Amino acid sequence: MSRQPQPWDLATLCLHTGHELDPATGAAAVPIYQTSTFHQPGLDEPGPYDYARSGNPTRAALEGALAALEGAAGAFAFASGMAAIASLFLTLGAGDHVVVTADCYGGTYRLLTRVLARWGLAVTFTDTCDPEAVVAAIRPNTRAIWVESLSNPFLQVADLPALAELARSRGVRLWVDNTFLSPALCRPLALGADAVVHSATKYLGGHSDLVAGTVAVRDREAAAAVAFVQNAVGAVLGPQDCFLLMRGLKTLPLRVQRQQATALAVAQWLRDHPLVAAVYYPGLPDHPGYELARALGGFGAVLSFRLVDGRLTRPFLRALRLPLLGVSLGAVESIITVPAYHSHASLPPAERERRGIDDSLLRLSVGLEAPEDLIADLAQALAAAERAVSAGAGPVTRRGPSG
Ligand SMILES: Cc1ncc(COP(=O)(O)O)c(C=O)c1O
Repeated sequence: MSRQPQPWDLATLCLHTGHELDPATGAAAVPIYQTSTFHQPGLDEPGPYDYARSGNPTRAALEGALAALEGAAGAFAFASGMAAIASLFLTLGAGDHVVVTADCYGGTYRLLTRVLARWGLAVTFTDTCDPEAVVAAIRPNTRAIWVESLSNPFLQVADLPALAELARSRGVRLWVDNTFLSPALCRPLALGADAVVHSATKYLGGHSDLVAGTVAVRDREAAAAVAFVQNAVGAVLGPQDCFLLMRGLKTLPLRVQRQQATALAVAQWLRDHPLVAAVYYPGLPDHPGYELARALGGFGAVLSFRLVDGRLTRPFLRALRLPLLGVSLGAVESIITVPAYHSHASLPPAERERRGIDDSLLRLSVGLEAPEDLIADLAQALAAAERAVSAGAGPVTRRGPSG
């Protein structure tokens, strides 16, 4: 009886995918093949590569590693997360329809409504946490359901196995943007999804030093379709960034596990702070997505929180010393974002208000700082903000102990 080898833990797989050595030299880091074209042995003897948009050894090594990590039939590296998302949607055509999670990333919303709609791709935005709403949105020409494993900024959790089941029963594909969880915590293809997409700018790269995107797909037919679009449209990731991304992948599980542990400590600390009105983190048992996130494999390291008074936000941000103020997430350094001014600035004010996205709401992507340093920094900045507001505009009403 043949014995199947033990499947490796992701930590091992990130280092030993079978694509980590340069096949030409055995070098421990695949070199940056900085070339646009490749000499062909002869007119009737094509070499393994011909032109770098179609294929490059550095990108091939990265894509092989990504396929191994995701358990995919094929994986593809793009010049940004948006290029990856656009390329996947471009495997569809005019007259096709997609069902998309209503609170999807703003860039995805813009792509669908202002670019792909002009080319005849129809879209229905719906609450993908509500199976009945998803079923109601499906039409005969629906080709895919698009969800994000964790939504922004309230970290709602998608029930990927249930959505996969629903999609399969309707002959529709399930496509997942797994940027917020990363394969270190959740591998959607193993849960029944057909395609998984990342803004690799975030956890996969992890170091705030590149912009990239990935698509990984379950079956060969889909792989051929994405490969065709990747070459035809040409939004490929350059070899330098492929190298950086491969380097980032090696420490992905280590980073994400540590960031998640720190995020939980920060969330627990914030929950008890009298200047914090609410904390949204699926790792807290009172978050509505807690059980689902546990079943998916993890909670991630992004949390949102609401201050008791929007007047605290500006002095709080000014007093913070550690988190970088700006857009993005998933990096080694903590990054704080004000969704009303950053990720959701393009929403009409009434829609922002309806969703509860106002000046008092902050999102923190927890980095690799020591948890005690991060918490001490948040503590001193909250105290400074309270002093500043009280001195200028009058006292701040703190949340009571039962709040
Ligand atoms: C969930 C999600 N998907 C996709 C993207 C787009 O990725 P990129 O900025 O790499 O194009 C982002 C960017 O923030 C994101 O947060």
